[in-house]
Amino acid sequence: MEMQQLLPTEYLELDPAEMDKRITTARKSLGNQLVILGHHYQRDDVICYADYTGDSLKLSQLAAQEQAAKYIIFCGVHFMAETADILTSDAQQVILPDLQAGCSMADMADIAQVEECWEILSTNYAKDIVPVTYVNSSAEIKAFCGRHGGLTCTSSNARKVFEWAWQEDKIILFLPDEHLGRNTGTDLGVAQAEMLLWDPELPDRELPDVPPRLMLWHGYCSVHQRFTPEHIAQTRLTHPGIKVIVHPECSREVVQLADLNGSTEYIIRMISQAPPGSEWAIGTELNLVNRLAQLNPDKTILSLNPTMCLCVTMNRIDRPHLLWTLENLVQGKVINQISVAESTAVDAVIALQRMLAISQ
Ligand code: 13P
Ligand code: SF4
Repeated sequence: MEMQQLLPTEYLELDPAEMDKRITTARKSLGNQLVILGHHYQRDDVICYADYTGDSLKLSQLAAQEQAAKYIIFCGVHFMAETADILTSDAQQVILPDLQAGCSMADMADIAQVEECWEILSTNYAKDIVPVTYVNSSAEIKAFCGRHGGLTCTSSNARKVFEWAWQEDKIILFLPDEHLGRNTGTDLGVAQAEMLLWDPELPDRELPDVPPRLMLWHGYCSVHQRFTPEHIAQTRLTHPGIKVIVHPECSREVVQLADLNGSTEYIIRMISQAPPGSEWAIGTELNLVNRLAQLNPDKTILSLNPTMCLCVTMNRIDRPHLLWTLENLVQGKVINQISVAESTAVDAVIALQRMLAISQ
């Protein structure tokens, strides 16, 4: 368990110009010992310092390729920094500027619950089961998947990963996002009746005799679940002809009514390539939607939910925390390091590398 240190109050009192000056000086002094990775949901005043930006897949590929940097500051959430730590060498250190930047979805599956589910499924069904976890999960769950012949996926490659897992006639146990699992299964032609939902909080479960093709975990993203079919109906009413693009963490009903769906990298690509004058309603985190609106002034870009809020945990990474970790590094002190235990990392890396191998 990492120890969260308290941000000294002096950092909160700095004005933006002073912080910018000190961040720039610290980055310069660390030179190529440092790489800053930034997820697309980061705030504008943080993402501007990232050496590389990306979705979860791209950032994990970048971490796996990064060999020169001694320090990797991850501007994103906890599971992303854990993934980077697992994929980098022991000589490299991964830092999450605020250790409280977690992910509520990743917290919806803990390893004891997953082991219990595995035990029950394995005793009930004669068929083999392959565990697949969305990267939005703890390192322990990734390790569980690696140990049991499974792998990780992101919203960019879930389809390929499911196809890989179903090369043989197996049940996929998909963790922890019900919606990404259901959306991917449906896209691959699996009927709703062939998917079962596993709620880890339910005490007595009755499983049908016929095994499901896909066992979905009852987890969800609290941000993406705020987009509803009513938002799509209302937007189409007020903006006839508008295109709706959403992240696959949205519910099946929302994804079905949208024109397009895909990862954050996909959403960015679609909007950048869209013709001038086109209108878009986007169902994903607000920092990214606002940035896309700024970067594409020749297009109309709205949030699909007009009262949308940010991902609060992503937003915990701010300039004071970034500056604080950087200035400590300049003094040779590593604070807020993410370090996955070797006993977990050995299995988790198998799950991640299986995914990276089929994503090239
Ligand atoms: P992407 O992999 O599409 O960037 O999504 C990450 C995430 O956490 C979305 O909520
Ligand atoms: Fe987690 Fe949702 Fe935030 Fe992504 S947007 S980091 S899934 S809480």
